[in-house]
Amino acid sequence: MFAILYSCKKEEGCTDPVATNFNSDAEIDDGSCNYPAEGCTDSTASNYNPYAILSTNTCEYIGCTDSTADNYNIYAIYDDGSCEFSTTPYIIETPFGFPNMIIPDNNPTTIEGVLLGEKLFHDKILSGDESQSCSSCHQKELGFSDGNRFSAGIDGIIGSRNASTLTNSGWNTSFNWDGSVSSLEEQAFEPVVNPIEMHNTWANVETKLNANGEYLQLFKEAFNINYIDSNHVVMAIAQFERTLVSANSKFDRYIEGNEQLSASELSGYAIFNSEKGDCFHCHGTQLFMDNDFHNNGLDHEPFLDIGLASITNNPADNGKFKTPTLRNIEHTAPYMHDGRFSTLEEVIAHYNSGGIYSSTIDPNMKKVGIGLQLTEQEKADLIAYLKTLTDSDFLEKK
Ligand code: HEC
Ligand code: HEC
Repeated sequence: MFAILYSCKKEEGCTDPVATNFNSDAEIDDGSCNYPAEGCTDSTASNYNPYAILSTNTCEYIGCTDSTADNYNIYAIYDDGSCEFSTTPYIIETPFGFPNMIIPDNNPTTIEGVLLGEKLFHDKILSGDESQSCSSCHQKELGFSDGNRFSAGIDGIIGSRNASTLTNSGWNTSFNWDGSVSSLEEQAFEPVVNPIEMHNTWANVETKLNANGEYLQLFKEAFNINYIDSNHVVMAIAQFERTLVSANSKFDRYIEGNEQLSASELSGYAIFNSEKGDCFHCHGTQLFMDNDFHNNGLDHEPFLDIGLASITNNPADNGKFKTPTLRNIEHTAPYMHDGRFSTLEEVIAHYNSGGIYSSTIDPNMKKVGIGLQLTEQEKADLIAYLKTLTDSDFLEKK
């Protein structure tokens, strides 16, 4: 039999576990510890070795590893969940004489969002066979309309409404000729899936966008999302559409006192704003529209397209359509919800005739049966005035 004997020892040595000569048996530090001369010498690294004298480039960093975040750390290897994102506000200046644009709280306009929306607006990736973008039917140089009476969608099917201008649409309170939707966000859902427009599915759009590295990056920057969904697609497009502000026409410069109108233009301006032409009741203010619906006497009953009534189911709304802005009107032909008039001369001839009587005709179409009785010169003046609403900067640069 052997008894196990424990001897009391007080061995001296290096008791510091990070030292190279650490002695696990030592109880008392004799000051002999040797430290490695090499290691990570950067005090901000997670494996910083305070004893190292020479850097061995072994430093490891934790921090934010997402390159789109504000506090991205290019040295970080491990994400510590600290990433912070922010966007840059895009300020939409209120032009002289305009009301403030109402922007939804849940979709503030940002530089990142607008740039993304602009790219999406011009990208055929949104359409079923990648042959059409929003800009196919909303072309900048045509005041974001398309010059056709009716637009053809990707399958060549022709609709029954004229492509709307998007000039100053950020001030609209309802959209489409019949006012079927009430926000730009809501509106942008439609063309993508409309069988006579882009004829796609949102599931397909999401799949394609999520497979695209550039879009993943841009959506991350604009909305801090890692998966692209349809809600954020329409939010970006709506942000871009709100920046389509046109307020630098000859008429604006005249109102601001910086340019003169010709005698003919001034005469047209007076006709427009007096009982003589009576245009201002519906196309008033600097927006040249009233955000309301009217029957301006185009047709006899029963109407081929009942307009607002198809949304409200109220027969009193039969034949009423949203008043379009007249800004850039020189370039948005053809005119009216069905593009029936190809020139401004035809439009003026319609109003000059007084319009066609029907049960829902607007009370401000006061000269039904009599006509406005404008002379040839007055008609020309009215057209000259309407052309002062052209904003070349907007049509060229936007
Ligand atoms: C095939 C042609 C076509 C394409 C493509 C198209 N649109 Fe349109 N757009 C139209 C037509 C036509 C209307 C009028 C529809 C109506 O009133 O029923 C319209 C109306 C609108 C309006 C309403 C404007 C207002 O003030 O009432 C907006 C906004 C709009 N489109 C945005 C878009 C966006 C965004 C896209 C792409 C996602 C797009 N459109 C794609 C033809 C097109
Ligand atoms: C009672 C309201 C009302 C009055 C008054 C009125 N308009 Fe209109 N205007 C409308 C509506 C509503 C439309 C769209 C009708 C439609 O498409 O069915 C329209 C359409 C137009 C268009 C075509 C716009 C486009 O983008 O297709 C022009 C141009 C126009 N009006 C000019 C005038 C002029 C000029 C006058 C005065 C001589 C005038 N309007 C008087 C309500 C009115």
